[in-house]
Amino acid sequence: MSDTHRFELPADFTWGTATASFQVEGAAREDGREDSIWDTFCREPGRILDGSNGDQACDEYHRYPEDISLMKEMGVGAYRLSVAWPRIFPSAQGRLNQAGLDHYRRVLDMLRDQGIKPVVTLYHWDLPQYLQDAGGWPNRDTAKRYAEYAGVLARAFGDSVDTWTTLNEPWCTAYLGYGNGAHAPGIRDYDRALATVHHLNLAHGLGAQAIRAELGDKAWVSVTLNLQVNRAESGSEEDLAAKTRADLFANEVWLGPMLAGTYDQRIREAAQGITDWRFVREGDLETIHQPLDVLGINYYSTNHVQARRIGEGSTQAGVGPQGSLPDQEANAMPAQESVETLPPRGELTAMGWNQEPRGLTDLLLEVSHRFPDLDLMVTENGSAWEDEVSPDPSQPGGKIVHDPKRVTYLEQHVRAVAKAIQDGARVTGYFAWSLLDNFEWALGYTKRFGLIRVDYPTQERIWKDSGRRYARIVKDNAI
Ligand code: NOJ
Repeated sequence: MSDTHRFELPADFTWGTATASFQVEGAAREDGREDSIWDTFCREPGRILDGSNGDQACDEYHRYPEDISLMKEMGVGAYRLSVAWPRIFPSAQGRLNQAGLDHYRRVLDMLRDQGIKPVVTLYHWDLPQYLQDAGGWPNRDTAKRYAEYAGVLARAFGDSVDTWTTLNEPWCTAYLGYGNGAHAPGIRDYDRALATVHHLNLAHGLGAQAIRAELGDKAWVSVTLNLQVNRAESGSEEDLAAKTRADLFANEVWLGPMLAGTYDQRIREAAQGITDWRFVREGDLETIHQPLDVLGINYYSTNHVQARRIGEGSTQAGVGPQGSLPDQEANAMPAQESVETLPPRGELTAMGWNQEPRGLTDLLLEVSHRFPDLDLMVTENGSAWEDEVSPDPSQPGGKIVHDPKRVTYLEQHVRAVAKAIQDGARVTGYFAWSLLDNFEWALGYTKRFGLIRVDYPTQERIWKDSGRRYARIVKDNAI
C-alpha cells in the first residue's frame, strides 16, 4: 500500500480519543478525593520536571461537558477515560465515596447521551496513597483491594460502560514506579518491581473475575499493554539474545500469564539474583489467565537494541537525566546489563522518541498471528511537539495551532493500522492520545500530546490542525 493509496477501515471500526484521570481531572481536593501516589510524588522536590502537579490539570472534573462537546465535534464514537481510585475509596477505612461515583455517573451519562461509547480504565497509575503506605503494589493485598474496587465500579456502571480495561501500561507501574523510580512512588528496587509485575497480573485476573461476577458475559473485559517493539541491531546471536531479553521483561511478563497462564522459564532464569519469586503462589496463574474480550495496545515508537559489548561502561538502571524518557525507559527493566538500547534515530518527537509507523503494523500483525482469536484495539497512539498558537483567520479573534508534524505522525500511524488490517490483523479500534494536552507525568506540562491545545492559565481549548485532520479521518472512515 503506497502512501497515497486510500484505505477504508472496516464499517464498524471504533475511532476514539483517550485521557487519564490524574492527567486531566484536577479538582484534587473535591468531593472527598484524597491523595494518590502521584499527588505525593509531585510534592517531592525534583520529581517533576517543571515542579508542577495535578491539582488543576485540564480542570476536566468541571469542564467535561465542554470537552464532550469537542469530542462530538470531532466525531469520535468512543472515549477512553480512567476512573480515579482515590475518588471512590479515598481512605484506609474503606468507606465508599458516593460523591466520587456520582461524578463518573454524570460523565458516563453525558457521553451516552452524545452517542460516545465509554471505554473505562480502572487503573491508570493513581494508586490511593494509603495503599502505598501499606506497601503498594509489592504488597499482595493491593491486588485484593483492587478487585473490590473493580467490583464496585462494575456494579455502579455496568449499564453504561462499553469496555472495561483493568490496567493501563502495567510496565510503567512496575519498572518506572518501583524499578528505576522515575514515576510514583519513586522506589528503586527490582525485587519489588518484579513483585509488582506479579501483583498487577493478579489484580488483572481478580479484577476481570470481579467484573464478570457482577455483569456476567455481557461485560467486555480488556487490558492495555505498552508492548515494546524491540529491533535487534544485527542478526548476530548476541544481538538477537539481547532483543529476546528485552522482550521477555517488556512483553512476556504480561502476555504469558494473562493469555497463556504461564511465566516463561527464561524470565525466571534471567531474574536470578534479583528475586526468588516467593510472591507467586499456587493458583495465581489460573487466576490471572482470564478470557480477554479485547487486548488494548499502546504504541508510540520502537527500540533498537544490541548486546552490550564487554568492557563498555554500562549505564546503571535508572540513571538517565531527568526529563529524558528514552533513557528512563531504556534503563528501566531488570536484568538488562547485557542489553544496550541504541540512541533513537531519525526525526525525534519532543519526547525524544523515534518515529517508526512500520513498528505498529509489525506489532499488530505479530500479536494477531500469535493469538488469532483475539481482537486488538490501539488504545493509545500520538506524538508530542513544540506547538505554537496562531491567529485563525477564519474567525475574528480566533486561534489555531498549526502542527504539521503531529498531522503527519497521525496519518502515518492510522495508515500503519490500516495496513495491518489489510494484512490480516484483527484490529477493531484506534484511540488517539490525547484529546487534550495534559499532565505528562514526570515531565509535567512540558510535553503536549493533545489534538486540542489547553492554555493552562485560562483553561481555553484551542483546536490544532491535527484535531481537524482526525475529524476528517473519522468522518471518512478512511485514510
Ligand atoms: C502512555 C500513558 O498511558 C499515558 O498516560 C502517557 O501520557 C502517554 N503514554 C504518553 O507518554
